[in-house]
Amino acid sequence: MGFDFTPADRVNTLPPYVFARLDELKAKAREQGLDLIDLGMGNPDGYAPQPVIDAATEALKVGENHGYPPFEGTGSFRSAIARWYHRRYGVNLSPDSEALPLIGSKEGLTHLALAYINPGDTVLVPSPAYPAHFRGPLIAGANLHKMVLTAEKDWLIDLSQIPESVAQQAKILYFNYPSNPTTAVASREFFEEIVAFARHYSILLVHDLCYAELAFDGYQPTSLLEIPGAKELSVEFHTLSKTYSMAGWRVGFVVGNSKIIQGLRTLKTNLDYGIFAAVQAAAETALELPDSYVEQAQQRYQQRRDFLVEGLEKLGWNIPKPKATMYLWVPCPKGTGSTDFALDTLQKTGVVVTPGNAFGEAGEGYVRISLIADRDRLQEVLDRFQQAGIRY
Ligand SMILES: Cc1ncc(COP(=O)(O)O)c(C=O)c1O
Repeated sequence: MGFDFTPADRVNTLPPYVFARLDELKAKAREQGLDLIDLGMGNPDGYAPQPVIDAATEALKVGENHGYPPFEGTGSFRSAIARWYHRRYGVNLSPDSEALPLIGSKEGLTHLALAYINPGDTVLVPSPAYPAHFRGPLIAGANLHKMVLTAEKDWLIDLSQIPESVAQQAKILYFNYPSNPTTAVASREFFEEIVAFARHYSILLVHDLCYAELAFDGYQPTSLLEIPGAKELSVEFHTLSKTYSMAGWRVGFVVGNSKIIQGLRTLKTNLDYGIFAAVQAAAETALELPDSYVEQAQQRYQQRRDFLVEGLEKLGWNIPKPKATMYLWVPCPKGTGSTDFALDTLQKTGVVVTPGNAFGEAGEGYVRISLIADRDRLQEVLDRFQQAGIRY
């Protein structure tokens, strides 16, 4: 008898991760000697703020930080999360039961699905969406109901389109505003509606507020927990990756309903040992930085947004300036699919963009461009687009 190397169905049935596929294509393009400009992933360029680096360096000098960290995160990081929440949103949280540090929010979003979804449970997910919002539930064996988002509805979830029988059965609804990849933002009224909907159908809400602070033109994203009663049925995920350019440090957190958090904590206790204590000390420092740091990050991305949107406009694109996130969500030229357009762009210009269908079929017809290069590189993108005739 031979060995059976077939992975479990939960792995085998996953669609290929598009970023991994893009990596292969990028490697090929590099072999051909192309100078790539990678605007594919949402991977911030640059360094974490200096006080964060200093805090990590200091924490490295403390012997006990080199051992296993507490499973549930350090008490001082959890307290910093609660203080930050109160400062930003006026929401009170218990640092012991309503805040849990994560090894990045992707880890938590996916494990939450494993902690709460039994095979066959109905889960409501937007399409297009950040992949962890549907891949986590898929790994857990969920029956996905896709809430299709469209430009006509400003990429907002249309709750009235969810059939009554599906809503009755649904256990969890994932959502994310400001949205990756569509860059859409949602009003406070929308958050109130979704809480009322979830309460009516007894659905747990999972909100991803990854772009809590990357908002422009004075816009302030809403936290789900600001909505009265939301904490009774929901959790919200945050990350240090984006605002503080700490994507490689792997640190984020979830806040909200203590029962939901307890289930995730129990699962994680069996899977991981938490986050390196020195990284938690650094993350705590990041959350306590004066607002001027956040404003600098906002200005950086806002200037890039303006530069690229205005440059693309001269090439014939008409892209509204997003109010938040670090992306542009760009329609492909008429009649061209997302993958073809992204590949064509890569081959002709060496510029990497992400095909919209990486975020689900409803992202077909779009590509996502990340604002993760400085002005000179973005000018180079525009020049290459012009020379290669990449236009709308
Ligand atoms: C909406 C959204 N959620 C979560 C993540 C992952 O963040 P983290 O680095 O905390 O895992 C990303 C990363 O791009 C994202 O866009």
